[in-house]
Amino acid sequence: MSNVYTLKDFITDLDRITRTEASQEKIVAAAKPLLARLVQQRDCIEEKYKKRGATAYGRYMLHRAPLFNVSSVVWGPGDNAKAHNHDTWGMVGVIENEIQETRFRRKDDGTNPGQAELEVSAVLKNKAGMVSCLISPNDDIHEMNNVSDRDTVEIHVYGKDLTDMPRLRFDVATKAAKTFASAKYDNC
Ligand SMILES: [Fe+2]
Repeated sequence: MSNVYTLKDFITDLDRITRTEASQEKIVAAAKPLLARLVQQRDCIEEKYKKRGATAYGRYMLHRAPLFNVSSVVWGPGDNAKAHNHDTWGMVGVIENEIQETRFRRKDDGTNPGQAELEVSAVLKNKAGMVSCLISPNDDIHEMNNVSDRDTVEIHVYGKDLTDMPRLRFDVATKAAKTFASAKYDNC
């Protein structure tokens, strides 16, 4: 039997997990080691999904299912995403190179629209083969920075399709919170 764990295998496993587990914590706990196994194989996605975008970081939808979706994200040197939330569970696995991820804790109670007080809870250096997890609403705010001089390739898995979905982007210094939505993917 082959030891290769393919994207198709991962999708099959995640389909079973998301249909049998209801809580975000249980889904992520069951799926994290599987995504880690997948991203430890550099060739787990096609080369065409490892290309930088024309004007920003690259995003490609790899699989849409009713209860989850799998995409690839490619950060060029200097590319970043300022602090933002996700409003769903999520996992980010690094296939190539590394990414600096800053995690935040929200200190206010969210009752003041347009404002948010965040404090840094961790600054991580996520290397190839590693998986970082998001659980909404208490642990799903992060900032991503490619501080290296090479492209970073990741697989992202979310419980919702983030394209056109309103969520929040934060200016940590001014304590402003603004609604934004991710644009379309580069391939669809
Ligand atoms: Fe994110």
